[in-house]
Order: sequence, then structure tokens, then C-alpha cells
Amino acid sequence: MKSVKFFTAFTLIIIITFLSACKKKEDAAIAEPAPLALTPYQLYSPPYFPKLIIPSDNPLTVEGIALGRKLYYDTIISNDNRACAQCHTAQYAFSNPAPNSLPHVNLAWNNKFLWRGAVEGQMEDIMASEVNSFFNTDVNKLNASLVYPALFKKVFNSNTITTKQAAYALAQFIRTLSSTNSKFDKYLRYEAMLTPSEMNGFVLYNTEKGDCFHCHSLGLFNDNAYHNNGIDSVFIGVNRGHYEVTVNSNDMGKFKTPTLRNVELTAPYMHDGRFATLEEVIEHYNSGVYHSPTLDPIFSKPNHLFGLQLTVQEKGDLVAFLKTLTDTSFTNNPAFAHP
Ligand code: HEC
Ligand code: HEC
Repeated sequence: MKSVKFFTAFTLIIIITFLSACKKKEDAAIAEPAPLALTPYQLYSPPYFPKLIIPSDNPLTVEGIALGRKLYYDTIISNDNRACAQCHTAQYAFSNPAPNSLPHVNLAWNNKFLWRGAVEGQMEDIMASEVNSFFNTDVNKLNASLVYPALFKKVFNSNTITTKQAAYALAQFIRTLSSTNSKFDKYLRYEAMLTPSEMNGFVLYNTEKGDCFHCHSLGLFNDNAYHNNGIDSVFIGVNRGHYEVTVNSNDMGKFKTPTLRNVELTAPYMHDGRFATLEEVIEHYNSGVYHSPTLDPIFSKPNHLFGLQLTVQEKGDLVAFLKTLTDTSFTNNPAFAHP
């Protein structure tokens, strides 16, 4: 009998302890500082893109992206009245008709930045360089503004705005500038057909005949690497390319492979804008490649010995294919426009 009573009392104690433990846990949750009400944002990464890596200290949130977008269009972050969007404009795939501009297209999947690769790493690194070196951002202006302190506080939960936070917010917005809806994407998804000319251009592009795909690889249409594509035989000034960064003679005349997505909108072409049209670019690869010690080995293969020897029709087909990479749902996306 005694043991039964003991058992009941014991069970009761356990139950009470358990219940009060639950209660305590609940109290603790309420007592903790309220979590920031940030809305996670999922960036779509097509299966034919490399793996998307977002650093854990700067996750994409709807609020962070909105802040970055506001900064992108605002002259407040520059010391001389410039905004990123003045040189990176939606209608030109976030580049600009200036001779050396680079577009903001799918940079979330890139880790080499600027024509000569002056910055390597993640988006936060290039943004830090844009904010600190290029724009000399004065955070006092942001801290004194009537709107920004509350927006930064919401995203970064701190009372003082720093240039690092501005760079992080910009990085979030630029990551979302992704173009995955061109005619060619639709073709890959069986939603659109290529014309015979576009199809022939695709075959030339993607086989040894035209040999474009080794560097402008399908998917991103770049390979996150540096190459000398034979536009010069002697290298001076900015034409020295990645050599300017490494001072290694193997890097002479090498530039980051630019994406060809939306290339129809990003004229003029090459790091110094020397070619005005896609036709001129194709003619370069067809008959104008200069030899030099760092020329990419691709151009020394037998099929390149006397130029590509493409017919007029084939050159036109290549251009037609490149135009299937234009994505107007990207350039017209209201989510990327001036807020
Ligand atoms: C005066 C025009 C101008 C303004 C303003 C400007 N940029 Fe640029 N941007 C360029 C040019 C030109 C390049 C290519 C320069 C080079 O590679 O040496 C470039 C390159 C870049 C790149 C590298 C892209 C790649 O594919 O490697 C990024 C990222 C970038 N800019 C972001 C920004 C951001 C963010 C701002 C605002 C803080 C900004 N830019 C403001 C002209 C500008
Ligand atoms: C060995 C690598 C390589 C091969 C092969 C190659 N490219 Fe390029 N391409 C580059 C590099 C690197 C640049 C940038 C060079 C510069 O700016 O000086 C470039 C630039 C371009 C540009 C200018 C883009 C812009 O935004 O300025 C176009 C267009 C282009 N290539 C198309 C093609 C086509 C079409 C083919 C095939 C016929 C091809 N490329 C083959 C590496 C390559």
C-alpha cells in the first residue's frame, strides 16, 4: 500500500516538474528579445547554373533587398552626387553605353569582379570596394537622414549605420538581379522553339566549329575565369588586364570572361568598348585573333589556324543565337526599377 502511495506521489512530482518546465520554457521565449521580423527571400537558381552560395552572415531578406535597391538608386551614398543606377541602367541590362561598363546580370553566381579581376571573393567584397573606395560613402549623411536609420535598424538591428551595412544591403539587391527567362532559357524548358538560324547559331556556338562555349559556358555564359581572347598582340596600360592585379606575366592581356546574357543590350564590347556591334565581335573571332604568348590555347587549335572561316550566313546565325539571350522580363522587372 505504502509503495503504491509513494508511486502516485512520485508520478505527481514528475508531472508537476514537467509541466512547470514547459511553463518556464514558454516564459523564457517571451522574455527573449523579440526576433527581427525579417522575411526570408528565396533566390531561384536554375539547374543549369553553378551552386548558389549566399554567405550566412548576409542572408537574403525582403527588407534587406528593398534597402539595397533604395541605395542603388540614391545619390546619398556617393560623395559627388552619383548613384549606382546612373551607370548601371535597367534598359542596358544594368550596364551603360560607356565604353567599359559591366552589366549586373547573375552576379550572385560570380566570384571574380571587374574586367581585370581587381576584386575576387563574394559580392560583399566587391560592394565594400564600391562603397568605400569608389563612392567614398559618408555614413554621417545616412545616419542624419530621416528615412535610412529606421530601415537599417530593421535589417541589421543596430543603431548606427556603417559602410559595411550599406555594402551588405547593396549585395543583397544585386544578388537578386538574375536573368533566367530569355528565349534560350525558354527553349531549354521546352517553352519556345529556336528559328533555324538561331538553332544553327547555337550549334556553331556550342561545338568546336565556333568554339564559344569553352569560355562563355552555357548557363551563366561565362566561366568565372580570365582569358586572353586575342584582341591585342602588345599590351600597354589597361590592356594589360589581370596582369595589373597579379604582376604575373602569365596574366598579361587576360580579362574576366563577360557573360553573354543580354549581350544585345550591352554595346560597345570588350573591356575598352573597341567593338561597336556584335557583327564586329564575331568578325574578330572569325578572322582577327592576334597571337601573343598568353593567347588562350583554344585559338591555336587546328580549326583556328586560318580563322574560323565562317560563311556570311553562319556569322549571321551566331548573332541571331546571341540575341536569344536577351531577357526583357529581366530589364523590365518592376522589382528592379527605381523604388
Ligand atoms: C560612373 C559610372 C559608374 C557608377 C556610378 C557605378 N559604376 Fe559600377 N561599374 C562601372 C564601370 C565602368 C565598371 C567596369 C570597371 C572595371 O571593370 O574596371 C563597373 C563595374 C561594376 C561591378 C563589377 C561587375 C562585374 O561583372 O565584375 C559591380 C559589381 C559594380 N560596378 C557595382 C556598382 C555599384 C554597387 C555602384 C554604386 C555604389 C556602382 N557600380 C556605381 C561604372 C560605374
Ligand atoms: C578563350 C576564351 C574565349 C572564347 C573561346 C571566346 N570568348 Fe568571347 N570573350 C572572352 C573574353 C575574355 C572576353 C573579354 C575580353 C576583353 O574585354 O578584352 C570576351 C568578350 C566577348 C564579347 C564581348 C562581351 C561584352 O560584354 O563586351 C562577346 C560578344 C563575345 N566574347 C562572344 C564570343 C563568341 C560569339 C565566341 C565564339 C565565336 C567567343 N566569344 C569565344 C573569352 C572568350
